[in-house]
Amino acid sequence: MLNTLKLGLVLGAALIAVPFTASAQQAPAAYNQCKACHVVGKNGVGPNLAGVVGRKAGTVEGFKYSDAMKAAPAWDEAQLAKYLADPKGTIPGNKMVFAGLKKPDDVAAVIAYLKTLK
Ligand code: HEC
Repeated sequence: MLNTLKLGLVLGAALIAVPFTASAQQAPAAYNQCKACHVVGKNGVGPNLAGVVGRKAGTVEGFKYSDAMKAAPAWDEAQLAKYLADPKGTIPGNKMVFAGLKKPDDVAAVIAYLKTLK
């Protein structure tokens, strides 16, 4: 009985803690596939995506881009949608190892989220 009560308190505390540790803007589920490489706010395996919408491709300071990415155009929403659905086909030779988001809804949700990252 006492143990059950303790467990309940621990779980309750964990649930309360979550909203405070999550970022202000909730990332869509599809963005979980990006997190391994794109850490918001700094460069990791992939470049920092804060401010990416509207920015010229391949221009985050301190990130070693492929020549293909450096030569790519700016990221407007149409270009992002194409790239996220088919990274290799849209920018041949870029080094992002990601097959692409298959569902248009996921592409739209991820772009909407990227727009909130300043
Ligand atoms: C396996 C690691 C990996 C995953 C997973 C990944 N990326 Fe990337 N991403 C990279 C790398 C590496 C680059 C740089 C590519 C280059 O220089 O050719 C990149 C580049 C980008 C760029 C261009 C950034 C710029 O500064 O021009 C965007 C936008 C992007 N990724 C979005 C995403 C999104 C959104 C997802 C999830 C749907 C995702 N990536 C998943 C590794 C990854």
